[in-house]
Amino acid sequence: MILIIDYGSQYNQLIARRVREQHVYCQIEPPDITPEIIRSLRPEGIILSGGPASIYEAGAPKASRAIFETGIPVLGICYGMQSMVAALGGEVIGVRKREYGFAQLHIREPSPLFSGIAEETTCWMSHGDSIRRLPAGFRITASTPSTEIAAIENQEQRLYGLQFHPEVAHTPGGKKMLENFLFAVCGCRRSWTMRSFAREAVAEIRSQVGDGRVILGLSGGVDSSVAALLLHQALGERLTAIFVDNGVLRQGEAEGVRALFRRHLQMNVRFVNARMQFLAALKGVVDPERKRKIIGRLFIEVFEKEARRIAEVAYLAQGTLYPDVIESRSAFGGPSAVIKSHHNVGGLPKRMKLKLVEPLRHLFKDEVRLLGKELGLPDDLIWRQPFPGPGLAVRIIGEVTPGRLSILRGADAILQDEIRAAGHYRKLWQSFAVLLPLKSVGIMGDQRTYEHIIALRAVTSEDAMTADWARLPHDLLGRIGNRIINEVRGVNRVVYDISSKPPSTIEWE
Ligand code: XMP
Repeated sequence: MILIIDYGSQYNQLIARRVREQHVYCQIEPPDITPEIIRSLRPEGIILSGGPASIYEAGAPKASRAIFETGIPVLGICYGMQSMVAALGGEVIGVRKREYGFAQLHIREPSPLFSGIAEETTCWMSHGDSIRRLPAGFRITASTPSTEIAAIENQEQRLYGLQFHPEVAHTPGGKKMLENFLFAVCGCRRSWTMRSFAREAVAEIRSQVGDGRVILGLSGGVDSSVAALLLHQALGERLTAIFVDNGVLRQGEAEGVRALFRRHLQMNVRFVNARMQFLAALKGVVDPERKRKIIGRLFIEVFEKEARRIAEVAYLAQGTLYPDVIESRSAFGGPSAVIKSHHNVGGLPKRMKLKLVEPLRHLFKDEVRLLGKELGLPDDLIWRQPFPGPGLAVRIIGEVTPGRLSILRGADAILQDEIRAAGHYRKLWQSFAVLLPLKSVGIMGDQRTYEHIIALRAVTSEDAMTADWARLPHDLLGRIGNRIINEVRGVNRVVYDISSKPPSTIEWE
């Protein structure tokens, strides 16, 4: 296990990703973690992340000297290296010129970190401060033209520092350097796999829950599905999943979830048909924020009512992922929560006196997918694109009515069908149809028509924070448009959305 101490760098999750890619488990912890807790975690090595602060400024997080006296190998990256130097009696100075971008790295001394790396390589720099004086026992192992102290080590105490970022792709040798740290310096083994994770998670759930009962909100998305499967393995019948049909789901969605979870996986799932209730509440509502609020509130109400019908429930399970856990406790205002989640049944545990079970809280999204595969979830669920909690309600601009829902469902099903058939589904972050509150004139046969407009939206993205419109082949777009106009009654025009985020958003509402 590797402990990563988080000084607030935008790259700290990337460090964790790099470590886990090597099949080594790691955990990110805040900088005020005490040496006692560190020892109790028994890490093989510690990585101090970069961060935006300047070491001597008020309130800057500091590395305690005690960390370096545990005898555990430490790798400080950027700010992490500076905090190590400052804690051990060296000196850091602010330089006038920030160094940002590629730099030529010259390796001056053999070092276990640099084994297998050419003497001349490039690295990615992003710092304002630099080290002026090294603490006793350290030597310089690499330099760049503008930063003499670019890499340092105290071999005897197994303390290492890099001024540049080995975790980013712009440092070509960085992966190897991290590997060297994990295996040659810390002696880690490659034992972190989703199979071992599943085994441990099942045992942990059993010990946390004892003979209690658990409920979970199943949405049909990847996270709640994988969480459900893990809990089902651990608890069998003592897990009850609740699926709320809110009337704004896509074509075939509720039936698909029912077939998979109830029939195929034989899970204890309660389907709540709340379609009428949601549609009644949405009647006449046009404002996007009001739609979201109505759906969010009603979801909690329906879920809670159903949950109360299950006797002796003591736990609520959620598919919370690691990035949310890290961000929610970041002391440095890390990127704020990505998604305005309506599935957030946040207030529920307190009101119903439920304890939380979050079996995925240490996993990243791609690990959840691997775990899903390990647990036997079908590929098309594992690779499902994200779908917003308020569903089609935020893709019908204007009022949500049964008639307009039916038009959008038809159009969306055709789009999904064609995108999958052309092999684009997994390459896209999301692809969907939107129904506009406009009509336009067309001609069908010899008849003038005056009908609805469908907009197609397809975007590529890494994390939904930014997105670009997908350059789908014209003939694919042509096929989708053609089929929608021919097969969906009430549509006579299809347009393609070519806006990126920012300044637009992915969803239209
Ligand atoms: P926007 O439209 O803000 O969307 O660019 C970013 C991502 O978030 C999804 N999204 C939601 N997901 N509940 C969710 O669970 C919501 O209320 C919600 N609103 C947007 C959206 O689909 C995209 O992936």
